[in-house]
Amino acid sequence: MKQLVPLIFHLENQWICSMPEKKQTVYFDNAATSWPKPPGTVKAISNFIENIGANPGRSGHRLSVEASRVVYAARENIAALFHVDDPMRVVFGSNITEALNLALWGLLCPGDHIITSSMEHNSMMRPLHALQEQGVQVTVIQCTPEGLLDPEDIEAAIRPATKMIALNHASNVCGTLLPVADVGAIARKHNLLFLVDTAQTGGAYPIDMQDLKIDLLGFTGHKSLYGPMGTGGLVIGERVDISQMNSLKQGGTGSHSEHEVQPDFLPDKFESGTPNAAGLAGLNAGIDWVLKEGVNAIRSREESLTQTLIEGLQNISGVTVYGTGDASRQTSTVSFNLTDMAPSEVSLRLDEDYQIMCRVGLHCSPAAHKTLGTYPAGTIRFGLGAFNTLPEVHSALGAVSELAKEIK
Ligand code: ALA
Repeated sequence: MKQLVPLIFHLENQWICSMPEKKQTVYFDNAATSWPKPPGTVKAISNFIENIGANPGRSGHRLSVEASRVVYAARENIAALFHVDDPMRVVFGSNITEALNLALWGLLCPGDHIITSSMEHNSMMRPLHALQEQGVQVTVIQCTPEGLLDPEDIEAAIRPATKMIALNHASNVCGTLLPVADVGAIARKHNLLFLVDTAQTGGAYPIDMQDLKIDLLGFTGHKSLYGPMGTGGLVIGERVDISQMNSLKQGGTGSHSEHEVQPDFLPDKFESGTPNAAGLAGLNAGIDWVLKEGVNAIRSREESLTQTLIEGLQNISGVTVYGTGDASRQTSTVSFNLTDMAPSEVSLRLDEDYQIMCRVGLHCSPAAHKTLGTYPAGTIRFGLGAFNTLPEVHSALGAVSELAKEIK
């Protein structure tokens, strides 16, 4: 098992961060899940299992109360990160897919119209396809081949039946950021609900739910919030009438147990069954780490590494980089291809010969690949995270350059 030892790294750009010890491998698959996790995340999970372990919100004994305190602390940290006044508006679930399903299935009825983009992940597209079969009208706004969205196209698509606009904050394929501030203003002007999928940006990019006029914010715990898999949720803003929002499941909540009908208040209406409290302990510690380092500091360091990576790839003959080519307009996720070498072969060679781990193919986002012109083969995706370093970027550039020379 990998030893996690806190070290202090002082990098070129003066950014200081406590880092776990790393092997010689390069992990560039942070867009799928971040790894390694900060030592605090690992300790919080093992501490919960070893020393707390009880079911939160169910019993009155000290360990159950302590477990409830841990879960509430995670709620408070999510609220602090996304600038939400009331932590009880944070609904936890197992991942962001569940959160997006809750927002979409919970609020859309046959006859309602929703607007989304052609850069969405299947966690948005698949529920929308299923809802379309139930009579919900769906408009998909075409983005540019760089993944850019024109907010005017969103406004032009609004109809009397439009109820919601739903977008990812950034593409999981090429990292391109969508103009959520502009679209949020449009949504508010037309009194529409605005749902944002922050899977690729939560913790890695500053997000103020109120400034951006987001009504429903889906988050995942295991990427840039540096928590474990199995954690995520939906923040439900004050403009959402929860009496008109269906829950996807009903069951025990530890509250109002005398009634056989589901409680009608937050978060219990949408949180039935024993939660992943050990996971939420880890998520809480992961967000502590993010808040301590500072989202802006993390973003600035990742942006600098991403620009070096993009420019380095663009300078290799035979490499095509997708997206805007500008790190300030995207996350630290970079997609590329090598002429005449299948993405799956490149990935295999990077892993076996250079110990570089990345993700290839369609990344569960066929619509985004069609938009970028990379469907059906997909791309090679390097997803950088807060623990990646400049030497790792240079080593990856060297590896890609050697592979590109082989196929000349
Ligand atoms: N959605 C994750 C990815 O992009 C799993 O890889």
